[in-house]
Amino acid sequence: SRMESGRRVFDLKAQAGTHDFGHGQTPTWGFNGDVLGPTLRAARGEQVQVNVTNALDQTTTVHWHGMHLPAAADGGPHQLVGPGKAWSPTWKVDQPAATLWYHPHLHGETAKHVYRGLAGLFLVDDPATSVDALPHEYGVDDVPLIVQDRKFDSGGKLDDSPGFMSGVGVLGDTVAVNGTVGPYLDVTTERVRLRLLNGSNARVYDFGFADDRRFALVGTDGGLLSSAYDTDRIMLSPGERAEIVVTMKPGERAVLRSYPQDLGTGPFGRFTGGADTLDVLQLRAAGTLAPRPAVPSKLVEVPRLARADAVQQRPFRLSGHSINSKQMEMTRIDFAPERDSVEIWKVVNNDGEPHSLHVHDVQFQVLTRDGAPPPPQLSGWKDTIYLPGDVDFELIMRFSDFADPNTPYMFHCHVLFHEDAGMMGQFVVV
Ligand code: C2O
Ligand code: CU
Ligand code: CU
Repeated sequence: SRMESGRRVFDLKAQAGTHDFGHGQTPTWGFNGDVLGPTLRAARGEQVQVNVTNALDQTTTVHWHGMHLPAAADGGPHQLVGPGKAWSPTWKVDQPAATLWYHPHLHGETAKHVYRGLAGLFLVDDPATSVDALPHEYGVDDVPLIVQDRKFDSGGKLDDSPGFMSGVGVLGDTVAVNGTVGPYLDVTTERVRLRLLNGSNARVYDFGFADDRRFALVGTDGGLLSSAYDTDRIMLSPGERAEIVVTMKPGERAVLRSYPQDLGTGPFGRFTGGADTLDVLQLRAAGTLAPRPAVPSKLVEVPRLARADAVQQRPFRLSGHSINSKQMEMTRIDFAPERDSVEIWKVVNNDGEPHSLHVHDVQFQVLTRDGAPPPPQLSGWKDTIYLPGDVDFELIMRFSDFADPNTPYMFHCHVLFHEDAGMMGQFVVV
């Protein structure tokens, strides 16, 4: 990035290329390269501008997933960037330190564009919501991991056809991390922070280590947790992020993998990847490791949104590629929260299929899961949540700062095949 008259400016060019995922060269799309895109990074309080140019032969969009920003800058299906065209949204970053990401959001085509390689991370820095004792040297002890499953046809080309009975679209048996298959990471410090993004179209991962070692979950979609959670598994559905801190001994190796899991979707779960074990990344510790402080148990202040502050409750029932029995229509606005108001969304998946809910513009909190307070991994800021079948969730959120009666934000299932199939709706903040 560069500073230009007080703004932090980034350039992103969507372009076609080729990439080798271990099956020979295959056509891909990327930002500023063959596949994926640069990690963008800005501080809270900065005015950013991203100059998006489209060198593809088709229309795309670029959405800033997890970012709190005006709807016209959001990059959803209404902010089209045609072939050869440019789009330069600008906004002031104002939210806690977090691991966000960006990806296309063209209605009906999001799955294809993301699968071909258009995605990248957007890190927000903010001293007030960071913890110095956590590893934070980017690329050294603070490492982003974009995890994506891919499959290939017999000619070694990327294959995005839906799997047999999958119902969720493409599931791959090859895991790429930051575009690399069979990756390892040289670890030089006693502790390493991994910023995990599930950038897959459909696959849900249940991350853990092959030796079942424990790690500290320190952050979720929208920022750090109030306290570190000592665990051996973290489940991420498409679009979700987690920041974990792993402790290593000199010379040892540790394999991050995804374990089989109960997706909570009944008998069809086995066609949706829940039975798979996939190795993701090998950590290789050096013979001597630079010391790093223990993970503090108290991390940051996460102010709670209170039920009493909510002025509106809305039900959301996900079923049959629809939300509340409606499918996405570009010209239909579903509802209009008022600026600065707090709402509670009551969400349930009534299908035998995996679904999630992602909400643009806001970070929400989980008030209840199945009538009870949320477990630690759902206790922080979230923008995407996995919905096991028939479990009720209450999400609470505030629609602050930005109102625009003419430009909608999206809410949708982040299984991209479902989103494209119409499991999405629109709201405007007024
Ligand atoms: Cu990550 Cu509406 O998207
Ligand atoms: Cu989003
Ligand atoms: Cu879904």
